[in-house]
Amino acid sequence: MSDANATRISSLYIHVPFCAQKCAYCAFYSEPSGGDLINRYVAALIREMEIVADDLKPRTIFFGGGTPSLLNLRQWKQILDAMARLNLFGADEFTVECNPATVSADKAGLLRDFGVNRISMGVQSLDEKLLDRLGRIHTREMVFKSFDLLRRAGFDNLNLDLMFAIPGQTMDIWRATLNEALALGSEHLSCYEVIYEDDTPLFAQLQAGEFDVNEDLACAMYDEFIGRAAAAGFRQYEIANFGKDKPLTMPSATLSPPSGVRDAVPSYACRHNINYWRGGSFYGLGPSATSYVRGVRTKNWANTQLYCEQLEAGKRAIESREELPPLKRAGETVAFGLRMTAGWPFEEFQRTTNFDLRREWPAEMNQLTERGWGKIASDHFRLTPRGLRFADAAAELFLR
Ligand SMILES: C[S@@+](CC[C@H](N)C(=O)[O-])C[C@H]1O[C@@H](n2cnc3c(N)ncnc32)[C@H](O)[C@@H]1O
Ligand code: SF4
Repeated sequence: MSDANATRISSLYIHVPFCAQKCAYCAFYSEPSGGDLINRYVAALIREMEIVADDLKPRTIFFGGGTPSLLNLRQWKQILDAMARLNLFGADEFTVECNPATVSADKAGLLRDFGVNRISMGVQSLDEKLLDRLGRIHTREMVFKSFDLLRRAGFDNLNLDLMFAIPGQTMDIWRATLNEALALGSEHLSCYEVIYEDDTPLFAQLQAGEFDVNEDLACAMYDEFIGRAAAAGFRQYEIANFGKDKPLTMPSATLSPPSGVRDAVPSYACRHNINYWRGGSFYGLGPSATSYVRGVRTKNWANTQLYCEQLEAGKRAIESREELPPLKRAGETVAFGLRMTAGWPFEEFQRTTNFDLRREWPAEMNQLTERGWGKIASDHFRLTPRGLRFADAAAELFLR
């Protein structure tokens, strides 16, 4: 590998800012939109790729959103052809997020043909009433159909997103969803507790007193999930993320994660996300996407019109740029990494940030250990299962 290749950025995120309809809980930047703006976005995205391509040699690619599967065949083909022309192919892991209502055999086949090898599907619930309540555009049947269709297209690495503590969701409903979701046999599960995000209809309903939050039930649902997922062969490697292991007879070279966490994560762990939690560099393209490249964090405009205008004028659509002082950045890196069950191996942390966790944050680690939220070992610090439940509060201690 040449020197230029060695220093190129190996992680690429692409944000697709469109959804058929906005879900009641969602604060990701996306909007319902018709064909013209989507066509304009595709052209602008290709411009943005052209600007950064020479600095990229992706090992992981992730198309997220929004709803990437909303793009039609022609739009996908335009993007994928451009990526081929710009030498952006060859990643070990190439994920596309899909909504069950917008998966088709043609689209799945096209993605597979161009090297996409992982699909993440937003399921949330398999209860028809709750899907409705959340403003999802798909039925439970569409989940089963799309899952089958993806398998038939040859995808052998599928993730399902689930949500718990949804208003109106009882433990019985959650168990029924779990039974059916686990029976599908995906390689990976992401399981999120509902977050009440400002400016969402669900938050407004909570404010208006339409329902109460039941913390105890939420905890019990999380515990139920952890037990059921483990019994089905999933290994937890992050607060909300669980993967299966490949049978020993299968080659695992293509899924080998970064060296520091190789043994600590299951073979189907999402390597793209591990890079975020490990403080790695990445390019984020598309409206609202952030990049972190050689110590500089930038954020694109969260406005698709403006994004397109800027790129049509030949400029990257950057709204803000921030170069963090090293200690501040290291504090954030502790916080992100503690989301993983492996915590932070001291040596790896030092390699990543040039700071020694034991020197800079001994009091914080001790405080968490005394509270039963953390555990210090000879070579690493990690959160306990209880600490993981309160990871945001634990992580805050490390911010400088
Ligand atoms: C960008 S979406 C996934 C793909 C696709 N847009 C879909 O919804 O089918 C990412 C995931 O984040 C989770 N999510 C989004 N907003 C959330 C919230 N307020 N609370 C908890 N989880 C949330 C959902 O599980 C969702 O599937
Ligand atoms: S959850 Fe997915 S489909 Fe729903 S609004 Fe958010 S990004 Fe769009």
